[in-house]
Amino acid sequence: MLYFCGLIMSEKEKNHIHPIFDTILSKEDKEEILHQKGMVLWMVGLSGSGKSTIARALEQELHSRGILTKLLDGDNLRTGVNNNLGFTEEDRTENIRRAAEVSKLFKDCGVVTICSLISPTEEIREQAKKIIGDDFHVVYINAPFEVCAERDVKGLYAKALAGEIKNFTGLDAPFEGPINPFAEVKTDELSLEASTNFLLKKVLPIIKR
Ligand code: ADX
Repeated sequence: MLYFCGLIMSEKEKNHIHPIFDTILSKEDKEEILHQKGMVLWMVGLSGSGKSTIARALEQELHSRGILTKLLDGDNLRTGVNNNLGFTEEDRTENIRRAAEVSKLFKDCGVVTICSLISPTEEIREQAKKIIGDDFHVVYINAPFEVCAERDVKGLYAKALAGEIKNFTGLDAPFEGPINPFAEVKTDELSLEASTNFLLKKVLPIIKR
């Protein structure tokens, strides 16, 4: 809101834009065709916790059941729409903002959108939730820092511990586990198959219309 000559000016008046959200086909129109509910499953956790692996397996399971999905992975997005962003707090906030806006577009098209981004703080996840609105579900892919560092699939932990990568999540940049996630998977205790089946059982009932 902008105050101008005693009047309250909306963002759209200020920017001379005239959105037509209320006159285009709705999420429900799209869901009716797809026989599914559009939603965002937002997977969060440390690098190497298993987010992308589980997201990939979950997507395949849903796809084989005739559910239309889209997987948005942090590393992938950082090669395109987010390719000018690094890992400062400010850049991560922008990274999540853009990912949330893109997810919302898919969700509103009735797609089950699986996002896999570290999303390190409660504040950053709140931002995503605020942008996406309804049908936003946080899934915590939980593995302790030591376990992720031991796995070190991408070799990043070794580099970060040697001081070659700055602002590394869980080391010199914060990671706060989500307080009330829709689901939590402890990947140091469950196999990939068990983790995927657990999530399938949680999401299938809320996807089908
Ligand atoms: S987020 O914090 O902004 O949500 P995002 O999920 O997009 O992060 O990207 C994380 C991925 O970037 C990691 O899985 C890893 O491959 C890579 N990466 C590179 N540098 C860092 C860093 N400093 N901290 C965390 N991940 C990093």
